[in-house]
Amino acid sequence: MTKKRAASSTKTRPGHRPGEFIRVLISDARVKLRLKQLAKEIRRDFPTEALHLIGVLKGSVFFLTDLARELGGEVSFDFLSVSSYGSGTDSTGEVKLIKDLDVSIEGKTVIVVEDILDTGLTLKYLLRFFEEKKPKHLRVVVLLDKVERRIADVRADYTGFAIPNEFVVGYGLDFDERYRNLPDVSVLQFGSRSKAITE
Ligand code: IMP
Repeated sequence: MTKKRAASSTKTRPGHRPGEFIRVLISDARVKLRLKQLAKEIRRDFPTEALHLIGVLKGSVFFLTDLARELGGEVSFDFLSVSSYGSGTDSTGEVKLIKDLDVSIEGKTVIVVEDILDTGLTLKYLLRFFEEKKPKHLRVVVLLDKVERRIADVRADYTGFAIPNEFVVGYGLDFDERYRNLPDVSVLQFGSRSKAITE
């Protein structure tokens, strides 16, 4: 597994609401390039297998659909939704299933597609949930990994970018359901413009 450290730009611009500022951390071009490499890594491990991707709604939607198109061969996908209790930029670590899978994963080569690995509590819950359903293989691909924040003892098999401990939005990631449609992965900062720039 190759981990890429995200290099950030210094340009901060206003966000969608007063007091919110965004700064590009990983451009959409870099994301797309890394996706091609991730798809190759996955296919190197499973050259001929049918792959069943499971996206965790909603943050992984763009990641899953872009990755699916980079993976050659037979690919199917499904989605599930969980909620982590909490508000704003912090979660309490309690996880609840909101939407279950549509089809059985028994005997399938499953790739869980997650937007970001933070404390790891969501992934820990999901892995236990999926393992009970007896897939043939169970692997995890994450776009972003905030390594410093880990609480649960979990790791991804394939990681797009290791990122610093900052709240990020864009490319599917949200803050209160907003910013998902930004093409780049950006850091969201709060406060006055001068404070946001110097932080
Ligand atoms: P974990 O259970 O703490 O690993 O958190 C996983 C979930 O928290 C992710 O799937 C995201 O939905 C959310 N999350 C964690 N960090 C961020 C962030 O920086 N921006 C947006 N969502 C985040």
